[in-house]
Amino acid sequence: MQIQQALSAACSALGLERLDAQLLLLHTLGRPQDDRAWLLAHDSDVLAPEAEMRYINLTRRRAAGTPLAYLTGQREFYGLTLQVDARVLDPRPDTETLVDWALERLPPSGALIDLGTGSGAIALAIKKQRPDAQVRAVDTSADALAVAQTNARRLGLDVRFSQGNWLEGVDERFHLIVSNPPYIAEGDPHLARLGHEPQLALTSGSDGLDAIRTLITQAPLHLHPGGWLLLEHGWDQAQTVRALLAQTGFADVASHLDLAGIERCTAGRWPAA
Ligand SMILES: C[S@@+](CC[C@H](N)C(=O)[O-])C[C@H]1O[C@@H](n2cnc3c(N)ncnc32)[C@H](O)[C@@H]1O
Repeated sequence: MQIQQALSAACSALGLERLDAQLLLLHTLGRPQDDRAWLLAHDSDVLAPEAEMRYINLTRRRAAGTPLAYLTGQREFYGLTLQVDARVLDPRPDTETLVDWALERLPPSGALIDLGTGSGAIALAIKKQRPDAQVRAVDTSADALAVAQTNARRLGLDVRFSQGNWLEGVDERFHLIVSNPPYIAEGDPHLARLGHEPQLALTSGSDGLDAIRTLITQAPLHLHPGGWLLLEHGWDQAQTVRALLAQTGFADVASHLDLAGIERCTAGRWPAA
């Protein structure tokens, strides 16, 4: 089968988006993900039977809902190429909003902790931009930590990782606590589309807010006076998260929009004395 026929079949017969079909074919052929021009220049090349079989397998899995990043094993996040697989959430572009905000708030040589680090996306992006920062990252999942630590080693970024339940057992204070915790309500119909990602990364109690409530309760004991708690949350949770932060005594509570214009992150400052 020629390259152009393979791409057409993936799009027309399986309903894949053209970009996904192209990226999977580049992956199959061991070519860089930014080499789509090569596919155009070689559209009449014939795929070796073994490559064709692997491509068909990958495109079928994509059509069945497996995230593209799990199939190619990588995801671009804040200019970093992260290795990802089914042990971690596939990092979302919207989470770059949280990174932008954290970089604005982090003082020189500041201390930061990323709670529920998954692939390490947030912690590693911040450390890359701010090598002066002291960055810690926690996850309860040993599998996720293994992925994050591999990413840190490969990218040469010095982040201190540990396994734990949010801030339990952490005995330091930070200038910034950041987290993209699980925030989907158990039983939410959207979960059906997310079945390939770890449940632990997705759901948090009957209203999706259990983890966020825990983080807001724990954070004051772990923030320097004037330090910030920055949280990502669901599209309809900003108002509730603002209220929870304000009730707990956080000041300057505000939300930021994601790429789609949705209030996606909310933060508060723990007041000085
Ligand atoms: C939504 S994912 C975020 C992953 C990553 N920070 C990102 O933005 O791509 C939430 C993460 O929280 C972790 N997690 C869930 N419960 C936790 C807990 N009790 N303590 C620490 N981490 C937890 C999950 O394992 C998962 O990696």
